[in-house]
Amino acid sequence: MSARIIAIDGPAGSGKSSVARALAAALGWSFLDTGAMYRAVTLEALRHDIDVHDEGAMAELARRVTLTTLPRVTINGRDVEDEIRTDEVNVAVSTVAANPLVRTQMVRRQRDFAAAQPLGTVVEGRDITTVVFPNATVKVFLTASLEERARRRGEEGAASVARRDDADTTRHASPLRQADDALVLDTTGRSVEDVVEEVIECLKLKTLS
Ligand code: DC
Repeated sequence: MSARIIAIDGPAGSGKSSVARALAAALGWSFLDTGAMYRAVTLEALRHDIDVHDEGAMAELARRVTLTTLPRVTINGRDVEDEIRTDEVNVAVSTVAANPLVRTQMVRRQRDFAAAQPLGTVVEGRDITTVVFPNATVKVFLTASLEERARRRGEEGAASVARRDDADTTRHASPLRQADDALVLDTTGRSVEDVVEEVIECLKLKTLS
């Protein structure tokens, strides 16, 4: 049997990481934060003065780095868990994520990661239900009001969150969009536990049928 996948997409601050993390813990599955991967590659480019607009140089960087997301986000052995959430990275990451050559490298790593997990993986990002795992056991699209999403993202602020959403949904390479067969959940005003429960119900229905 191929590894089970719960794929979660949605805009910044829609609750993907909290829900995915809690789901993975509840099921005893692995968790993969793919946004952290794009962020770590962006940070590494900034640190080494690689122009994030240089598609070839960025692809080469994405191909050769050593990258982990658990238990901490590391790149080339350096812990970058905190550094990847800075304003500098928030601004530059959309350019890196719009590079189709970088995406190819990240997608390959994401599929390899999931294939190596014994039970299953909860994966969250922007193209997980549409491109990376279109045959996932359960596909979820999370939304929430911009006000609530900006509140969850704290210091980043509504303008930056809205700018990133716009870049992520209008880019040419694997834009954020809702898969036709995704379970669409608005998390505004809902607790993580409540959303997790609904996704687990959906998983039960899918795996029993
Ligand atoms: O989820 P996040 O805010 O940490 O993601 C950071 C950026 O990475 C986001 O603006 C879009 C991009 N991203 C992507 O293009 N595809 C993914 N699968 C995950 C994130």
